[in-house]
Amino acid sequence: MASIKKVLIPAVALTLVLGLLAGYSIFKKTSPARQETPVGGQQVKQDDGKLKIGFSLPTLREERYQRDRDEFVKAAEAKGAEVLVQAANNDENLQNSQVENLITQGIDVLVLDPQNAESAAAMVKAAHDAGIKVISYDRLIKNSDVDLYISFDNERVGELQGKFITNLVPRGTYYVFAGAPTDNNATLFKKGAMKYIKSLADKGDIKIVFDQAVKDWQPEEALKLAENALTANKNKVDAILAPNDGTAGGIIQALAAQGLAGKVPITGQDAELAAIKRIVQGTQSMTVFKDVRDLAKKAAEMAVELAKGTEVKGLGDVNGAVNNAKLDVPSILLDPVVITKDNVDAKLVDSGWFKRQDVYGN
Ligand code: BGC
Repeated sequence: MASIKKVLIPAVALTLVLGLLAGYSIFKKTSPARQETPVGGQQVKQDDGKLKIGFSLPTLREERYQRDRDEFVKAAEAKGAEVLVQAANNDENLQNSQVENLITQGIDVLVLDPQNAESAAAMVKAAHDAGIKVISYDRLIKNSDVDLYISFDNERVGELQGKFITNLVPRGTYYVFAGAPTDNNATLFKKGAMKYIKSLADKGDIKIVFDQAVKDWQPEEALKLAENALTANKNKVDAILAPNDGTAGGIIQALAAQGLAGKVPITGQDAELAAIKRIVQGTQSMTVFKDVRDLAKKAAEMAVELAKGTEVKGLGDVNGAVNNAKLDVPSILLDPVVITKDNVDAKLVDSGWFKRQDVYGN
């Protein structure tokens, strides 16, 4: 008996312990990361320890956003966090309800690329009210207490476009397109570009005969505006400032219909595959490459730090501050790079952004 007991008791104990452990891990897997459980009339947060990040994008239309999403998720998961991604189809109301939903799902930090720079302040407030820190991603959220801003130096993006096009065409008839008026980046891109274009226009060397913003950055809208501008000016145009590759694509379509594609220098931004092909073929003059792989990775790392409770001032990577009309937001700004036919290989193929075959078809 004594010997059976000796064997049985540890075996039962072991089974119990294993059972408990198994039960615990099943519980961990199936329960949501955080639950709001009423206890004694109070809401307390039950935490399984896994950090949850909400990542809200304005759209997935431009090619870049697939990379933003994939790189962000990859980097956050590598740090053990879980990411809930939402994209708002260029609809600020939809983005607002998606963010409300993320907050309800118990995210620890919100990374928000706003459709509308101004109205997004309400989402920052809602997140803060729930004790959630907010990172403004790529586009600045204005008039809010947003905790951190991670982007490229967007005025510099515009400067690169303006410098390039005025070097190529220092005098002549210009069409100036800008991005969505609801996007603070669009304002900065134009500001940077106009530093170069305006001084030559003031001297009378450049004549700006068209100057308009493209609603929601829509390529179709850019196409229509370009058609109208060409008609109104009897096809007279020497250079075009296009704020990104998507709008440049629409404008180049309008030029092509008039037999002008490749004859009118035009800028771009984002290093989209279609734009790089146009650059190689000669119908687009340049693009600005923003390596969003770096942006997304950095943002994911910062999000994990903030979710863990690190204070913004404890983040080593902050390298500046950007005023959002309410405060100087601690910022991390990365460098954009000009791409022309000459450095497609060095900057985009060698870095694995595109495969050689995608660009050249062989
Ligand atoms: C981004 C660009 C993008 C544009 C349209 C801007 O805020 O910085 O990369 O092309 O929005 O989505």
